[in-house]
Amino acid sequence: MSPDTSPSTPLSWPAWSSLQARARAGVPHLRELLADPNRHTYSASAPDCGLHLDYSRQAVTDGVLAQLMALADQADVAGQREAMFRGDVINTTEQRAVLHVALRGAPGATGNDAPWGADIQAQVHTELARVLDFARAVRSGQVTSSTGEAFTDVVNIGIGGSDLGPRMATEALDALTVHATGNPCGTGPRVHYVSNPDAWALHSTLRGLDARRTLVIVASKTFTTQETMTNAASARRWLADAGMEGEAQSQHLVAITASPQRSGAAGYPAAHTFTFWDWVGGRYSVWSALGLPLALAIGPEAFADFLAGGCAMDRHFRTAPFSANLPVLMALAGVWNRNFLDCPTQLVSTYPSRLAKFAPFIQQMDMESNGKRVQKGNQPCPVGTGPIVWGGLGIDGQHAYFQLLHQGTHRVPVEFVGITAEDAPLPLAAEHHRVVNLNLRAQAQALALGRDEAATLAALKTEGRSDADAHALTAQRSFAGNVPSSTLWLDALTPHRLGALIALYEHKVFVQAAIWGINAYDQWGVELGKTMAKAMEKAGA
Ligand code: F6P
Repeated sequence: MSPDTSPSTPLSWPAWSSLQARARAGVPHLRELLADPNRHTYSASAPDCGLHLDYSRQAVTDGVLAQLMALADQADVAGQREAMFRGDVINTTEQRAVLHVALRGAPGATGNDAPWGADIQAQVHTELARVLDFARAVRSGQVTSSTGEAFTDVVNIGIGGSDLGPRMATEALDALTVHATGNPCGTGPRVHYVSNPDAWALHSTLRGLDARRTLVIVASKTFTTQETMTNAASARRWLADAGMEGEAQSQHLVAITASPQRSGAAGYPAAHTFTFWDWVGGRYSVWSALGLPLALAIGPEAFADFLAGGCAMDRHFRTAPFSANLPVLMALAGVWNRNFLDCPTQLVSTYPSRLAKFAPFIQQMDMESNGKRVQKGNQPCPVGTGPIVWGGLGIDGQHAYFQLLHQGTHRVPVEFVGITAEDAPLPLAAEHHRVVNLNLRAQAQALALGRDEAATLAALKTEGRSDADAHALTAQRSFAGNVPSSTLWLDALTPHRLGALIALYEHKVFVQAAIWGINAYDQWGVELGKTMAKAMEKAGA
């Protein structure tokens, strides 16, 4: 089929052709671009979110940037953005609005601050109050187990969006989950996450726990996911084996779902059932009742701060001009790398150890959203869509896969994430922090600049190598450089800043989908495997 060039598709937009021409003509090496003393102006901040984006190491010039901005205009990103915030049915294959932004709307907001309308605003805040009250009551010991004891442990059973977000955020906000000495419950219960239905995953979590003081949360938007239901049945058996059955077991069970009818039919008590709605995608649901395990871990006030951070980023996304708009800039850099510089992957490299699970979380958000080949109008997308997103902790990566970034044959754009302030309660924390950020900055610079053969030869001679040795090693020890990267700096890793960071990535994904003309909010691609498993089960395979 020949590519669709109708007015609504990227290939028909003048900015697309102009960017193609610029990419063909070539962009100067980053070594040259970074030699410009004004290059530091390639940066933008969202002060209310505590975030700063340095994109000076993206392979862009003023001319490229201008065309990328034009591309966003020609794709009507602003119009599409407002349609989402208004609650238009932008998830067209499921006929749903996409309103995770409403979940973090400010309490009491009206008018342009709550464009989704009063009904949704009321629904969200009623359920949020239930979630926060429950979290408060469990943490204070007011809600107790069937034996009248405070809950010391919570096990969240869920997978995909019902696991990755709360799990990542609980670890990221570890500073708030410290358990007071002497009290096994401390300021909040320990929260564990189980996603894999491999029995060892559940066993290795449960074996250290006392069933009489454990709360089991079953988190599933659909309440049909086989992996989650398998783990839930096993956890209920574990409670029963410890003497908790019937009404007693109910006191240890919580359901979080958009299908309370199903969880009710499965015996989960209504008072312990928290809901969200079909207009919240699983991978966008950490802000909803699905955030309950996080609220249990960090406390209701901190969870409210987390929501406020997301809301602050929404304001930035809706009001900052595109040239200073963090999600838009990150999305456009991604489109430039993906569609014009032919980089099929995107590495997310976090340096704070507490953000170890950030890349896998973003991986689902991005790849399940933008891993699509058909546009909203049912035409094959004529240009490449979502990149392969991968990553993890940058420091560990340096000692593993960074070799390929520096000297392999792939050009892998990187998004570095770091924190400017350190807060770990160790006497030498400042030194740890210095080493971590030094490495982040050094990697970004080394990837951009590389080292040409002349510089390598000189370096080898300085090392004391003979002329012959130096020449023999020059090719092996040289670096092409010119690897594009951005660095996102958080001023601190607080609930508010984490909320803003997640919302930033959500909007980045949105902007890219808006340009590619795809629906970022369905996930039909995961269905065939599920159907196949059912068919095989039925056939007795
Ligand atoms: O199979 C993919 C998926 O549907 C994700 O989109 C979702 O986050 C995950 O499964 C879990 O689904 P549920 O919350 O309905 O159990």
